[in-house]
This record gives sequence, structure tokens and C-alpha cells, in this order.
Amino acid sequence: MTFSIATYMKCSFALGAICFTLGMASQASATTTKQLDEIAQRIEPVGVVCIEGQVCGADQTKAITVADNKTSTSSLKAEAEAAYSGRAPQNIYNRYCIACHASGAAGAPRLGNAKEWQPHIAKGMDTMLKNVIHGIGAMPPKGICSDCTDEELKHTIQYMINQSQ
Ligand code: HEC
Repeated sequence: MTFSIATYMKCSFALGAICFTLGMASQASATTTKQLDEIAQRIEPVGVVCIEGQVCGADQTKAITVADNKTSTSSLKAEAEAAYSGRAPQNIYNRYCIACHASGAAGAPRLGNAKEWQPHIAKGMDTMLKNVIHGIGAMPPKGICSDCTDEELKHTIQYMINQSQ
């Protein structure tokens, strides 16, 4: 690019003192056109909002799209959580499971007791979910939450595990 008067004017407004100095240098003919071009190129990006680590200028839109994709990958877990449309696990626990899992009735592992939960957790979520759905030992099918979906039961089990580790 050439260091035109128009550029100089724009530059003056944007950069004030720096460009004023540049202008003075130009008037004094101490700086060659080539040098001015180089300076102009160096100061030009000041007008473009560039974020460190991102592509600048024309490629900016592309860069932002890439950044968005990255964000969505890292927030996939959060999205999966958001996709859960069942009832709040805590409410299900308080309404049904608490009957046995607070007192330990009939040998139920008590909420908040890591030692009692350990052998159950060791079976893994899939096995525990199956056992809750069909019932195990003294626990009736679905832990008496007969209208619970498998998804709701799974989240409630996860809630109980989280409270018991
Ligand atoms: C009537 C009492 C009772 C209720 C209500 C109850 N449970 Fe249980 N639960 C038990 C007992 C007893 C065990 C231990 C069963 C065993 O290992 O023999 C148990 C075990 C479990 C286990 C471990 C299963 C495994 O595979 O080791 C999970 C998970 C569980 N309950 C979740 C729930 C959830 C979720 C609810 C509510 C939706 C619920 N329970 C309601 C009595 C109950």
C-alpha cells in the first residue's frame, strides 16, 4: 500500500501523537516512502480488533467459527446434562428412595455413607440401574417410583452416589 494523505489523515485521528510524529518525519523528508510504507503497514493492524491466538482480518470470521466449534466440543457434557428432561433427581430421592435409603431400612445403603455404598458403586452404573429397575433384595422394582423413567432412575442413582462418596 502507499502512504497516501488520506491514510495519513485517518491515521492521525486514530493514533494521534504517533502519526503526528510520523507526519513530521515525512515533512522533514528524513523518511523514505518505502520506510513510510513499512511503518504504515506496521501500524495498520491497530484499526482491526484482533484477539491473541486468532487469525486476523479477512480470516477472522473463519477463526471465530473454529473457536465456536471448540467451545461446543468442550461443552458437550453440559449439553448432555441440559438435554435431561426428567424430574430433578433430588426430588425423586426425597419422595421415594428416602424411605429406605435415609434410615438404611431393610439393609439399604444409606445416603452419605461411603462405606455402605462402596460395594454397590463397584458394580458400575449399568448393573445398578438394571437392579433398581427390576428390584434387588429387599428393594422393590424401580425403588417404588413406578412412574420413573429409566433416565430418571439413572440420574437419581447418580445423585445418590454423588452424595455418598
Ligand atoms: C423399600 C426400600 C427401598 C426403597 C424405597 C428404595 N431402595 Fe434402593 N435399595 C434398597 C435395599 C434394601 C438395597 C440393597 C439391595 C441389596 O443389595 O440386596 C437397595 C439398593 C439400591 C442400590 C444399589 C443397587 C445395586 O445394584 O447394588 C441403588 C442404586 C438404589 N438402591 C437406588 C434406589 C433408588 C434410586 C431409589 C428410589 C427411586 C431406591 N433405591 C428406593 C431399598 C430401597
